[in-house]
Amino acid sequence: MAHETAETLRNLIRNRVRGHKFITVSNREPYMHVWREGSLGWIRPASGLVVALDPVMRSSRGLWVAHGGGGSADVAASDERGFVDVPPDEPSYRLKRVWLTEEQEENYYYGFANSGLWPLCHVAYRTPVFREEHWRAYQEVNEKFAESIAEEIGNEHAFVFIQDYHFALLPRMLRQRCPHAVIAHFWHIPWPNPEVFRICPWKQDILRGMLGNDILGFHIRYYGDNFIATVDRELETRIDREQAAIIYRRHMTKIRAFPISIDFESVAKQAASAATDERIACLRKRYNLGEDMIVGVGADRIDYTKGLPERIEAVNRFLERYPEYCGRFVFFQAGVPSRTHVDEYRRLNEEVDECVRRVNQKYATASWRPIIFVREHLPLSELLAWYRIARFAIVSSLHDGMNLVAKEFVAARVDHDGVLLLSRFTGAARQFRSDAVLINPYAADAVAEAIHRGITMEPEEVRRRMTRMREQVRENNVYKWAADIIRKLSKVV
Ligand code: F6P
Repeated sequence: MAHETAETLRNLIRNRVRGHKFITVSNREPYMHVWREGSLGWIRPASGLVVALDPVMRSSRGLWVAHGGGGSADVAASDERGFVDVPPDEPSYRLKRVWLTEEQEENYYYGFANSGLWPLCHVAYRTPVFREEHWRAYQEVNEKFAESIAEEIGNEHAFVFIQDYHFALLPRMLRQRCPHAVIAHFWHIPWPNPEVFRICPWKQDILRGMLGNDILGFHIRYYGDNFIATVDRELETRIDREQAAIIYRRHMTKIRAFPISIDFESVAKQAASAATDERIACLRKRYNLGEDMIVGVGADRIDYTKGLPERIEAVNRFLERYPEYCGRFVFFQAGVPSRTHVDEYRRLNEEVDECVRRVNQKYATASWRPIIFVREHLPLSELLAWYRIARFAIVSSLHDGMNLVAKEFVAARVDHDGVLLLSRFTGAARQFRSDAVLINPYAADAVAEAIHRGITMEPEEVRRRMTRMREQVRENNVYKWAADIIRKLSKVV
């Protein structure tokens, strides 16, 4: 298919959903309203899902249903049914907030979703926690969302686009309530092999729930194949391998790969702006980064799947092997606190602090330290400035469905410079396999060598690789991701 511009794809999305209700469902809300010194403000949460879907929703002008209450002013900003127009500064679609009790949030979100399914699907060597009370809340919350969405659809035709592992049961619940809805579900995290999945006590309920979808999407084919193999092992179904489809109780679910992405043009435009140039100058001054300082960058939620201690250890090994870079090299890491109600995440925060302290103590001089760690949700404008300052970025996830930081780094490099060190265990590695420097984050010495390779790579080669990666993201942007899913959905009607 010839290259379609972002504008063409946006029009396609608008046209395909016209005449239908278009509803997106996710746990995370795209905007959180907050009180700031008595007045109403808002923030965008740190979420790849939000980064990807917000531009799509702006184009489709649909309804986004999400768990409300993340922001201190969410209730005040919404009407009595939970509705509010967003984006707050440029309203173009509606958000319906679903309110959960504290107990529901604790058990469904922190519990089953993030202490059970998250480690189960990521296989990052954290034992999944499966508790009855978590599972009950997960069922309850899925029901609650099904009710809330069904209220909006009634008996009409609608496209419902469900996001992620928080809602494995929702597709079947919705199908029972809304017979005219066409349902797609995108699973934003990996799907493990049947051996791993079989330890989940409610595995069959989860699979049955997901087989309520018309389309079930994963980032890469490998996860879809794992899903089919899991169903084959756990349920009586008919599997059409040629079509990658599963027929269960006379309903067909098609399993497809849709690699998620970002709004390339908008990121590139912002990265090239005068405001970003100013930011760069400010950051260089604030952190004393002369033009000849070699800067590396990382930006992640503080999550054990992201391989942060492993990354810091690799920086340590790099300086051990190449001490001549002491004083000439700085690694900047932004870490966004995430899910800190879960013990595992609290422990990780302490571990990361300890790793940074140890490495800085080992090498620091009176005027220099090798690692700058900022535990903060930096605005995109500041991240883009860091991406442009950096000679290289490290994405060292132990396992990651896709990883959009890798794509943002590439889109931000409007100068076609910069090297991407990318974990082999990310979905993104499939798309950048020949142009990123692929790393195994578990092998610290090899990552240290990859850092060295990145900073000594011939400028010509750096440029060639970055140009190809930029082409890849420009073409396979988030509108293509959404348009491909919507094209498939409209074939079901
Ligand atoms: O990777 C899965 C995912 O849901 C992303 O889509 C999102 O960026 C991230 O997890 C954020 O998680 P949470 O909403 O729990 O902060």
